[in-house]
Amino acid sequence: MTVRIGSLTVKSRVYVPPMAGVTDIVFREIVRSVDSECMLATEMVSSRALLNRPETRLMDIAADEHPIGIQIFGHEPDIMASAAQMAQAKGADFVDINMGCPVPKITKGKDGCALMREPELAREIVRTVRSAIDIPLTVKFRLGWDDQTRTAVAFGEMIEEAGADAVTVHGRTRQQLYSGKADWEFIGKVKRALSIPVFGNGDVFETQDAARLLEVTGCDGVAVARGTLGNPWLIGRITKLLETGKLDDLPDDVERLITAYMHCLGLIRYKGVRIGTNESRRHLTHYTKGIVGAAPYRARLTQIESAADGAQILAELAELVGGAEGRRRFLLAVEQNNFENCEEISKGDSHAKNSVQAPVDFDPVAPVAIP
Ligand SMILES: Cc1cc2nc3c(=O)[nH]c(=O)nc-3n(C[C@H](O)[C@H](O)[C@H](O)COP(=O)(O)O)c2cc1C
Repeated sequence: MTVRIGSLTVKSRVYVPPMAGVTDIVFREIVRSVDSECMLATEMVSSRALLNRPETRLMDIAADEHPIGIQIFGHEPDIMASAAQMAQAKGADFVDINMGCPVPKITKGKDGCALMREPELAREIVRTVRSAIDIPLTVKFRLGWDDQTRTAVAFGEMIEEAGADAVTVHGRTRQQLYSGKADWEFIGKVKRALSIPVFGNGDVFETQDAARLLEVTGCDGVAVARGTLGNPWLIGRITKLLETGKLDDLPDDVERLITAYMHCLGLIRYKGVRIGTNESRRHLTHYTKGIVGAAPYRARLTQIESAADGAQILAELAELVGGAEGRRRFLLAVEQNNFENCEEISKGDSHAKNSVQAPVDFDPVAPVAIP
């Protein structure tokens, strides 16, 4: 089933929405490898910061990532319009405006969800950005600021009238942050009031949750964020379920550990050892959730200083879950990956697959010492 977002037709109803610190190019490559059609989005990018740092890598898009949107935040219509033009020039398929971020650092400057309290300004932003770009424009927001002001229906109508081509609605208020349960019934009210596609969002952690959200809300698509942490397969499995009614098998634990390592290595190569290992720690612990007996290993994963540290601990875990054969499978995958990347680098083709493989600080991680 397709969804039409302005001039863009997407073949999937599944969307991985922006997550700051998560949906970078490395994470997105992994999601794309398990779902070739879902919609993707970058992390949010500050429109004002772009004025000073237009070269930010937050807007980097790989050739095989489409359909993908770049999300911008801010509250100054002209500055947001310039940011949207930069996003368009970067090759985004759509621009998404963040009107849902609840973090005080963002909302105190009238950005993110604060715009739900400034509907006139939000309208002007949508109109100004709309007229500055040719690609589709989407907006992501919440149910409202707090329980007393659940304004999402009127807000959505205004956003549509101002020219947005689709919206994503997270079924919580700003006040709730991430507490309580996402109110899918209320998302349904927004859906019924609008003619543009609505992506329902909030609390999809299992494959069947997505089907239920679509049923309850009547939404055109489903946006799945936290459920993908350490579990990118969720996206491919949701797509399969929605398209065929069938459930794919879950990857086994060794497969999960191999992907965890690839994620860690990708981050280190793309962002450098210091930032890459730092960011990997959190992801690695997500990948190991649910593995019986993993707690002590998880604690060690939060301390890694290099890809080799990660490989060492993950290999031990692979042995825990799969015995000697599990360890062998894991190490073979590590070795194969190192070999492929060394070949690409030695050919002088640092962008052999795509920019994810750019060998930032490659030396310190290759070859990874195999335990
Ligand atoms: C770590 C993290 C970072 C997020 N960053 C963004 C962001 O940059 N822009 C945005 O619109 N929403 C952001 N969100 C919100 C998610 O896109 C989503 O709306 C929210 O997590 C609810 O969906 P879920 O229950 O599927 O996680 C973020 C959420 C998390 C957990």
